Amino acid sequence: MMFIRRTKRLSKFINTASTSNGRYYSDSSRVTTIKEKIKQGPSLKDFITDSSEPVLTDRPFIPYLLENAKTKTKRKVFFDVYGCQMNLNDTDIVWSILKKEGFEKTSVEEDADIFLVMTCAIREGAETKIWHRLDHLRGFKRRAKDRSVKIGILGCMAERLKEKLIEKEKAVDVVAGPDSYRDLPRLLALTENGQPAVNVLLSLDETYADVVPVRLNEDSVSAFISIMRGCDNMCTYCIVPFTRGRERSRPVASIVDEARQLADQGVREVTLLGQNVNSYRDVSQSTEKIDTHMAKGFKTVYKTKKGGMRFADLLDKVSAVDPEMRIRFTAAHPKDFPEEVLQIISERPNICKLLHLPAQSGSSAVLERMRRGYTREAYLQLVEDVKRTIPGVGLSTDMICGFCGETEEEFQETLSLMELVDYNIAFLFPYSMREKTTAYRRYKDDVPDHIKKERHNRMLELYRRKCQILNDAEIGNTHLVLVEGTAKKSGNILGRNELYMRVVFEQTEVLTEDGGKRQVKPGDYVAVKIVGARSATLKGVPLYHTSLSEFYRDYQWGVRRAVN
Ligand code: 5AD
Ligand code: SF4
Repeated sequence: MMFIRRTKRLSKFINTASTSNGRYYSDSSRVTTIKEKIKQGPSLKDFITDSSEPVLTDRPFIPYLLENAKTKTKRKVFFDVYGCQMNLNDTDIVWSILKKEGFEKTSVEEDADIFLVMTCAIREGAETKIWHRLDHLRGFKRRAKDRSVKIGILGCMAERLKEKLIEKEKAVDVVAGPDSYRDLPRLLALTENGQPAVNVLLSLDETYADVVPVRLNEDSVSAFISIMRGCDNMCTYCIVPFTRGRERSRPVASIVDEARQLADQGVREVTLLGQNVNSYRDVSQSTEKIDTHMAKGFKTVYKTKKGGMRFADLLDKVSAVDPEMRIRFTAAHPKDFPEEVLQIISERPNICKLLHLPAQSGSSAVLERMRRGYTREAYLQLVEDVKRTIPGVGLSTDMICGFCGETEEEFQETLSLMELVDYNIAFLFPYSMREKTTAYRRYKDDVPDHIKKERHNRMLELYRRKCQILNDAEIGNTHLVLVEGTAKKSGNILGRNELYMRVVFEQTEVLTEDGGKRQVKPGDYVAVKIVGARSATLKGVPLYHTSLSEFYRDYQWGVRRAVN
């Protein structure tokens, strides 16, 4: 009872204060007023005078969070992750924050006190899946009558729907947007007295740079590093700039530190993550370099940013951390691949030669409506330049069919682009209209669902057919495979080649450098001869254990897939 009363007093006080740490969209006068309010307002002592519980003093002072509220929330959390890799990494950040506050993690639903659902809002389909999951959780909460179970919605859907989630979905207790994860311990503490808690403020500079993510899957040989957040591109179909806010980059030094720590833990592959990684820019670092221009035929909707360390500099530093650690990155925008970036990718053996060039459409007219900032011709020119600068490069793309006003002829241009460019990986989507976007305001979602579906199927069919041809051409070549684990059913070894293609081979004793033999284990690099191909998997025979540097020394740089 005492606890509830104190918390109410406290929450009343912080409902203004907690939203104003100066990071958020708030004018400076408001921040000053709030700072003054904090100064004049009650101190932590005011809230704990009648408490018999000790106040922990070895932690940084968090004005809005009662220590006894925190101890009360030492509870088991079950994580549910939907959506992109960024969401996986955000979950690691959330887990790191909660773990520090004494929460525990569980993978058994029945043991959970708190369900945290990391959500995605990019397409309607993604949200539908999450609504189904919420139905299930609502039932679970109802059945767990004898104990209190809380449900928190995190991420993009939380940002999109905000308080509506609580109104519509009565079972939801916490709603936290992508920039509010530091606030989660407080939000969860507030729910202890049955009060729902929401923080969906977007930030101009939150990058969680100082939060070392704790990986949910600690055994994995690969890891993600978030290097930037948000997006300024405002493609007309996309909700991301509204759910994840403005683009901001994390300082170079903290990224390099994290890469070093991961390398020390034995991680063999890191993926640099962001909505648009190649527009990375650490403005806190000045460089002598002159800003490189975008490739011809590309433009942005925002004023071009100037100065600071750029993506090429970051790649240079991160790839130097450990020559045996592979570096990948995603997602990228075709407009931000200046010569410098292509050059460093081509020079460093440990930067994977797979470039994500999301075309979205093959029709210049559709690209214009999508506000992508390039034409089909400029895109094809970029593909040429990329192939010339990085011999043997692999390409991946995202494509949307059925965007507003897309005619059959325009769709044919997408198919013809997919015929022209040999994509190793493609993510293909039927268009899904999202509220708030420019397309929602400006265009009509006038391609009927059955046509979208039919076009989607045609894209998939073409993609699979082309992948099969590309993969068949690899038979007889030797690939460097990073071993990830073992298939549950067959016991076969699973790994990935440089182009992120899955490679499968039988577990057997494999030659080592000193002439001996040993079985392969996760984290090993193995030279594998490709003997079979499907559209999504390659089958191989392991030849010998190797290292990244050794493999590329033997096979000459630039000829990644040696023909035997
Ligand atoms: N409908 C369909 N696909 C979309 N994408 C983004 N927004 C939408 C939408 N409204 C796709 C784009 C983007 C990928 C992450 O998701 O292809 O690159
Ligand atoms: Fe969305 Fe375009 Fe930004 Fe990608 S670049 S996140 S598609 S707005």
